Amino acid sequence: MPLVSMRQLLDEAAKGGYGVGAFNVNNMEQIQSIMEAARETQSPVIIQASRGARAYSQDRFLYHLMLAATELYPEIPTVLHLDHGNSPETCQSAIDMGFTSVMMDGSLMPDGKTPSSFEYNVEATRKVVEAAHAKGVTVEGEIGCLGGIEDGHGAGGDGLSHLTDPDQAVEFVKATGVDALAIAIGTSHGAYKFTSKPTGETLKMETLIAIHKRLPTTHLVMHGSSSVPKELQDIINQFGGKLKPTWGVPVEEIQLGIRNGVRKINVDTDNRLAITGAIRKVFMEKPEEFDPRSYMKPAREAMKKVVAQRMTQFGQAGHAKDYAPIPLTEMVKRYQSETVAV
Ligand code: 13P
Repeated sequence: MPLVSMRQLLDEAAKGGYGVGAFNVNNMEQIQSIMEAARETQSPVIIQASRGARAYSQDRFLYHLMLAATELYPEIPTVLHLDHGNSPETCQSAIDMGFTSVMMDGSLMPDGKTPSSFEYNVEATRKVVEAAHAKGVTVEGEIGCLGGIEDGHGAGGDGLSHLTDPDQAVEFVKATGVDALAIAIGTSHGAYKFTSKPTGETLKMETLIAIHKRLPTTHLVMHGSSSVPKELQDIINQFGGKLKPTWGVPVEEIQLGIRNGVRKINVDTDNRLAITGAIRKVFMEKPEEFDPRSYMKPAREAMKKVVAQRMTQFGQAGHAKDYAPIPLTEMVKRYQSETVAV
């Protein structure tokens, strides 16, 4: 099965009332972990790469690894998504490369750090929507700014400084025609999201619910949604790491989000923690080892376990074979004839 459009996966998720995890990758082992978890749980899957990941893997390596994934796992509907495109040019380069979905993060200026104006965001995102839909490619936009910094991209801060305004979200979706909308509700990228278990004061689920009420058919996206489980922190610290105590987004809150229009959930940090913990364990327990496979295999297994668990918790498990993939050429026609709601 070729790479499929994210719009189709999210439309199906909306029909089925479940969410789809979008997992970040930089290398072969991470792609393998995700595909194995998808096969084990029979899940459709979104694999995403940031600009940093594209640079790290020189783009072409990543793309060909993804083609290998579709060859080896033909039964799994798989999306290749650009995470946090910083400009229409970056999104265009991903579309040209074969990504089937792109995020235009116009909530920040092209430096990936400075919060932008609403007008700039609409303009940049609309431009990407035009170019992407002409190729059948899906577009995710963002309104409001996430906290933290990921791969050098982000407004920084604690996630509460630029929350999404529900009225502006409605205006943004109408003005741009995005397929999916990332919103800022207090989450942030990275391991240090909350200094204690989040409450309604720090994780604004009521804002999410208000946005869903106003935009009931828009696919909402939760970024910064790693749960940062204590068990994974403990493994790292047990084997020589120095993580400070921290809290992520509880899975129950994500599930509440899924009941209120969240269809895509971004997870990167949990997988990074799982990989690092597994590698540290081998380094501490078997200091004589020097074959990278001796630590990459357990790392891959540890990440697969986390991904499979999230796929089950988000509800995408068991849905891999629900539908036949719609070719991108057909998506182009649907966007033109507006059979896909925009
Ligand atoms: P985490 O850092 O919580 O995994 O978030 C990842 C993310 O939102 C990628 O865009």
